[in-house]
Amino acid sequence: MNTVVITGANRGIGLGLTKQFLHNHARVIATCRNPIEAKELQALSDNTKLSIYPLIVNDAQSIARFSEELDGRPIDILINNAGVIGGPRQSLQDMDYEAWSEAFEINTIAPFRLSATLLDNLHLSKQPRIINVSSQMGALSSTSTGHHAYRSSKAALNKVMQVLAIELDPQGIIVCNVHPGWVQTDMGGVNAQLTVQESAAGLCNLIDSLTMQQTGKFFSWEGEELAW
Ligand SMILES: NC(=O)c1ccc[n+]([C@@H]2O[C@H](COP(=O)([O-])OP(=O)(O)OC[C@H]3O[C@@H](n4cnc5c(N)ncnc54)[C@H](OP(=O)(O)O)[C@@H]3O)[C@@H](O)[C@H]2O)c1
Repeated sequence: MNTVVITGANRGIGLGLTKQFLHNHARVIATCRNPIEAKELQALSDNTKLSIYPLIVNDAQSIARFSEELDGRPIDILINNAGVIGGPRQSLQDMDYEAWSEAFEINTIAPFRLSATLLDNLHLSKQPRIINVSSQMGALSSTSTGHHAYRSSKAALNKVMQVLAIELDPQGIIVCNVHPGWVQTDMGGVNAQLTVQESAAGLCNLIDSLTMQQTGKFFSWEGEELAW
């Protein structure tokens, strides 16, 4: 049975992935900033395969405490899902630079730090995987405009993980980035194309099927390989 760690599991795609992996009989270590307030996640607690931990991904001490809690436990799949858009002001005329920095902390640096910190746990798995929820909005091949903070933080996440995939290849750890589609969450908005359940189901299928041949690649929620 796979053990899956998911960040930002209290709402949106993270909550959807938690439900889907539990449905698929995986053991889920769901993390969020404030478990006490995570009512929808707590409502799943009857399932003995679910455990919930506090984790603020851009707080080094929070990551260290989480890692201590998991000491010696194998992790098969780490899903770096927690993310932010980078604030509403992202234009040439009006840029929120603090929110941009925070987007880099949460979207780019935190997935690297958490992956590095949990490496010993991943080594205890037979088929370890690091999955990063990125976005096509960060693809360098895209010519869309606006959302500079969000796009650049995801573009940087893509590069960081492409490098990590090469570095972890000899250790047999799969590293892939995924685009979840445009999803109906607080971030994606009500007009988005996909329900959380549709995206999460597609992502779970993809994540379960990944092999070392696919490490270092970027995939859509439907399993289609995407251009960086
Ligand atoms: N929705 C889309 O259409 C779409 C498209 C492409 C990519 N994505 C990516 O998919 C991922 C999930 O997005 P979503 O749509 O589910 O967004 P969401 O509904 O806004 O949820 C974001 C999640 O990230 C958590 N989070 C943010 N900052 C955090 C921090 N510092 N520490 C721990 N958790 C933190 C939030 O926790 P709190 O509740 O505590 O804030 C929440 O659980 C993100 O990486 C996003 O960039 C989404």
